[in-house]
Amino acid sequence: MITAALASRGEVIKWMEDFVAEKMSEFLKSVEDSWQPADLLPDATLDSFFDEIKDLRERARDLSYDLMAVLVGDTITEEALPTYESWLMTIDGLPQDPNGPWMKWNRAWTAEENRHGDALNRYLYLSGRINMREMEASTQYLIADGFDLQTDSDPYRSFVYTSFQETATNISHRRVAQIAKKQGDNQLAKLCGHVAADEARHAKAYKAFVGKIFEADPNEMMLAFEDMMRKKIVMPAHYMRELGVDLGKTFGHFTDAAQRIGVYTSADYTDILDGLIAEWKIETLTGLNEAGERARDYVMALPARLKRVADRMKAPSLEYKFRWIA
Ligand SMILES: [Fe+2]
Ligand SMILES: [Fe+2]
Repeated sequence: MITAALASRGEVIKWMEDFVAEKMSEFLKSVEDSWQPADLLPDATLDSFFDEIKDLRERARDLSYDLMAVLVGDTITEEALPTYESWLMTIDGLPQDPNGPWMKWNRAWTAEENRHGDALNRYLYLSGRINMREMEASTQYLIADGFDLQTDSDPYRSFVYTSFQETATNISHRRVAQIAKKQGDNQLAKLCGHVAADEARHAKAYKAFVGKIFEADPNEMMLAFEDMMRKKIVMPAHYMRELGVDLGKTFGHFTDAAQRIGVYTSADYTDILDGLIAEWKIETLTGLNEAGERARDYVMALPARLKRVADRMKAPSLEYKFRWIA
């Protein structure tokens, strides 16, 4: 245990190495134990391939417009993985030793995430409902445009962000799975369920990282948590656009669709925050100075405030014709 007074962020991150190694084996799966996109999609080496595609397309035909739009948005978000991996590498104080636990974590996390875009992309291609060129252009845009998460390369802020964001993706992929099932596409439901399960493990790991930082440096961690919540957590694809559309404009329509069909709503945002407050035992946290106490007060009061705002908000009804949907 290092004491808060002595700890710099870099020292805390270094001190966490054994913990990260431990969590890695707990929350990430080996390649041998992992599902692959090929397990969930038609196998082109088999004679039954064309029949399987026919079935897939028939199921996909009945999926609602909003669900297809959300699926494309989710896929583009996953496909921008190079942005997330390179962002993780820029966090201040992460030891760059390629054989150290932090760099191993980055690679193994990325390796798991890489399957998500592959699986979703291949499904959408085979579904016959997507203008793939438009979707691919949006992906290229998003990677080129990058993002601004307002974490300032700070490890504390960054891991608040990833704790929140992996939980959000777990929720949204899980909801898409439920809706796909309701609309008759069990295979797609299974695929999204697999992705959601990965996201749940990632969320647990990042929450554990932050929990560990709270042990070593509660005041600074509390201030970082407050700061991220004041700025609001933006989704990583907030710059999403289509060809001929302004930066970030398509993202707004994508989140409208997600809100409309209940894939991800402002109530979910508040629920995630509630979950983080409980997970990190914010209410009973000790070792805070005056500024830390004020930060705690702000964060503790925030869910109720957000709920009041969400209650006043109506589900967006504006229809939008995405270039992605054929
Ligand atoms: Fe993912
Ligand atoms: Fe993720």
